[in-house]
Amino acid sequence: MQEQQVPLNFTTYTDSSELLEADAALLHEAKSATELAYSPYSKFKVGAAARLSNGVILKGSNQENASFPAGICAERVLLSICSSLYPKMAIVDMAISYQNEIGNSDRPITPCGVCRQSLSEYQEICQHSIRLILGGKEGEIFVIEKASSLLPLAFTSADLFS
Ligand code: THU
Repeated sequence: MQEQQVPLNFTTYTDSSELLEADAALLHEAKSATELAYSPYSKFKVGAAARLSNGVILKGSNQENASFPAGICAERVLLSICSSLYPKMAIVDMAISYQNEIGNSDRPITPCGVCRQSLSEYQEICQHSIRLILGGKEGEIFVIEKASSLLPLAFTSADLFS
């Protein structure tokens, strides 16, 4: 018997003034993408912005539906946009922000489980880690060097074919 541990390392910043200029700019894009959310049901607007390895920045937002399971998170909307416009081009950084019409937006949110799965596979496809910059409209910011570190012991394509 052996106990195992999976470490999760991430960096916290008091606010965006502490970030590298390029990270602050990408977080700003994610904040602006929240305006494009269609979230009349949850009233929770999420925006995501990706910097690709060719320098292009793309944005996505959550899109809901009266049939609730049909809605899509901002992160997966953005992954679909990236892979449709620039297939197999690595995403180097992704910033995620939100506005909560019925609550606060003063701390980071992290991607949901399904998005963690999708982010992990995107890394696998592009053979490049996705660095996450997470922050609300204001307040503390988390930077996580590798999105897949949020999904330890993930089920992957390797499990299907081995
Ligand atoms: N949502 C995202 O877009 N990304 C997240 O990381 C968490 C949740 C969306 C899904 C739904 O439209 C709304 O936020 C409330 O859950």
